[in-house]
Amino acid sequence: MSESQLWNDVDDYFTALLAPADDTLTAALRDSDAAGLPPINVAPNQGKLLQLLAQIQGARRILEIGTLGGYSTIWLGRALPADGRLITFEYDAKHAEVARGNLARAGLDKIAEVRVGPALESLPKLADENPDPFDLVFIDADKVNNPHYVEWAVKLTRPGSLIVLDNVVRSGAVTDAGSTDPSVRGTRAALELMASHPKLSATAIQTVGSKGYDGFALARVLA
Ligand SMILES: C[S@@+](CC[C@H](N)C(=O)[O-])C[C@H]1O[C@@H](n2cnc3c(N)ncnc32)[C@H](O)[C@@H]1O
Repeated sequence: MSESQLWNDVDDYFTALLAPADDTLTAALRDSDAAGLPPINVAPNQGKLLQLLAQIQGARRILEIGTLGGYSTIWLGRALPADGRLITFEYDAKHAEVARGNLARAGLDKIAEVRVGPALESLPKLADENPDPFDLVFIDADKVNNPHYVEWAVKLTRPGSLIVLDNVVRSGAVTDAGSTDPSVRGTRAALELMASHPKLSATAIQTVGSKGYDGFALARVLA
């Protein structure tokens, strides 16, 4: 058995046991696939991790950068109370339309708002609204802009908030200081910012599984 087959088998076991699909999650992935969206959503057990992190945070307000078809948004939105709020940014209008349908089916359309456009344009507009601070920010969009997203996440949160940055390992390419891959460079710059930022305490974790060899960084916003 290949190593990646073993990773898949373990993910299947964990997911069936701890993060089983329901009709809403299954339909979200089905409709995303039918609309031609790429299968780059988080894995089910990763979605459950996001949900648990939001619940541990006691999150009432969540910001997501990178919606795709709203699969991770559903996991996160389910962690919120009925009067909670989730804003998710998506560049692609077709992805946003699919996500809105999936969120409506999940009964989260009153809580979760999909905003279309480049996140670096949407973020300052959001800041202009003087929103209450977000308790959790999930960053999962164009990796080249990761350092900007981390900076914005710090601005839009409060001491004690959690920032989750996805896909920080990139099959190990993250260690290549000379990489010309914009996603690797953006991820390294974001990690270096997390390491040096006076308002952040961070770590990063490698993962293997149905999404290959990757990982995520967590940062807590300090006082
Ligand atoms: C990895 S997918 C998000 C997956 C989603 N979080 C999930 O797990 O279900 C990244 C998404 O970010 C979007 N994106 C790319 N560049 C963006 C940008 N500049 N602003 C906002 N969204 C962007 C892509 O269109 C894509 O839908």
